[in-house]
Amino acid sequence: MKIAVVVGARPQFIKLAPVSRALRSIPGVSELLIHTGQHYDDAMSGVFFDELEIARPDINLSVNSSGHGAMTGLMMQKLEPIIQEHKPDTLLVFGDTNSTLAGALVAAKLHIPVAHVEAGLRSFNRKMPEETNRVLTDHVSELLFTTSSDAVENLRKENISDDKIFGVGDVMYDAALHFGERAKKKSKILEKVGVEPKGYVLATIHRAENTDSPEVLAKIVDGLEAVARHHPVILPLHPRTKAKLRDIGRQFERVQIIEPVGYLDMVALESNAMLVATDSGGVQKEAYFYGVPCVTLRTETEWVELVKSGWNSVVPPLDSDIERRILRAIGTTGNPVEIYGDGTASQKIAQILTSRI
Ligand code: UD1
Ligand code: UDP
Repeated sequence: MKIAVVVGARPQFIKLAPVSRALRSIPGVSELLIHTGQHYDDAMSGVFFDELEIARPDINLSVNSSGHGAMTGLMMQKLEPIIQEHKPDTLLVFGDTNSTLAGALVAAKLHIPVAHVEAGLRSFNRKMPEETNRVLTDHVSELLFTTSSDAVENLRKENISDDKIFGVGDVMYDAALHFGERAKKKSKILEKVGVEPKGYVLATIHRAENTDSPEVLAKIVDGLEAVARHHPVILPLHPRTKAKLRDIGRQFERVQIIEPVGYLDMVALESNAMLVATDSGGVQKEAYFYGVPCVTLRTETEWVELVKSGWNSVVPPLDSDIERRILRAIGTTGNPVEIYGDGTASQKIAQILTSRI
């Protein structure tokens, strides 16, 4: 049985790690790993393959750094003959990036069943490129693996039939459990950055709706700079944000900017932070996994369970006093609920994939 896997962006390498491990433990399963090349810096890609013990990609399409149409189109153009040649039994995609959509569309048109990990998430904000990618991917998928009951409800409301939906839990939780201990032992990032456990705020910013508007980006810079007058703020800078800050001639002064870090260092930074302020999907959940309060710098979140449980507050950058909202959230806690499964989502996915094909 052959499973083609298409990944391309940082969070997908992290989601892939536990799923790939589970798939490879099943006799008779072979994995064809295709990297679209969407993320290509060592700090955005290579480091994860090394640290998370993921096999080297069999194929790299080297498609990146262009507009949505060009990127998605070129990925599809390069992917189609590969899928025709290898004829996988199914094609597996993760999340909601352009790489996800390109993989799903190519497979669907070649009548290869698509399996989507992290199906059913909705922000209900069609201005986000990710929302288009999610909706379309879900609607061409045969196997939809969901992280929570809200995601299942979203799919039902879009008339996706129950026999395609599998509530398995979140593979990022599997990864957090598997690598969390290793991060504690291995990472020296706190010493390197010069912060004490529970003595700093960790921030990440990269969403298009935050970085591509000079007004919103400036508001976030001002808000985080203001927080840094009270507590150290550490910000591993996404290359997109770095470029956009340069474009608007802004830089952080008090906030401590570092290069993007590997997953183990990120886990160490997250789990030891007094608060996480982010627009990342994955980082919102990881804050919850490690019992750290989170402020989401967006107008909405698709991870609504985190808000309901009290671990996360949504703080729209343009309409909020970011400094006040972050300072107020420090020290708060949510309810001790188990939202994203029991840490075995990857094994469940591997079993369902191999028994259904
Ligand atoms: C992409 C995803 C987003 C996801 C994020 C994870 C889409 C539409 N967006 O956003 O959903 O949350 O990845 O991080 O798929 N760049 C580099 N080096 C790299 C990668 C990117 O310099 O290794 C720069 C390039 O200038 C590029 C820009 O960052 O043009 C944006 O990269 P892109 O992959 O288009 O989108 P992300 O913002 O990373
Ligand atoms: N991450 C990382 N290093 C960083 C920033 C993030 O390893 O410098 C990890 C983070 O722990 C999470 C994932 O990348 O597992 C989230 O990816 P990102 O924020 O790029 O994308 P999103 O989840 O918003 O799609």
